[in-house]
Amino acid sequence: MVCLGNICRSPLAEGILQSKLDNTKFIVDSAGTSNYHIGNKPDPRSIAIAKQNGIDITNQRARQFTKQDFIAFDIIYAMDNANYNDIIALADNDAQQSKVKLILNESFPNQNLDVPDPYYGGDKGFEKVFALLNDASLKISQRLSPIT
Ligand code: 4NP
Repeated sequence: MVCLGNICRSPLAEGILQSKLDNTKFIVDSAGTSNYHIGNKPDPRSIAIAKQNGIDITNQRARQFTKQDFIAFDIIYAMDNANYNDIIALADNDAQQSKVKLILNESFPNQNLDVPDPYYGGDKGFEKVFALLNDASLKISQRLSPIT
């Protein structure tokens, strides 16, 4: 799960998807394309909206996306088109590029929509982001863990 700062959107995406998957089978992590907030906790507004929905993201610390992530992970979800382009620019080959997806294409196929950056807005923005990421994560979890 990758956004710009790794303090607002991607920490929520990490916590939400983790809450929907068997964590003995899947590793969900997050990172930022920027180095702005390395080592910081998630934004208090992200911590609050997660807590309201029964998810604790307080142990997360921001880190920057690295090329190593292309090797460590099978799927890389970008929160918006700018993050997508920044990640793609770091890929060494087509196989790595093909791991990168826009997360909202899970809910709105082929529309290439952005999870809006809530950083400069108010609490409503974080509620919207939570709802968008919850829907997308539900789709992801249903595909990865089909009920047999
Ligand atoms: P995020 O939000 O990418 O969802 O973590 C942002 C956090 C910080 C900044 C921008 C977006 N910033 O410019 O510091």
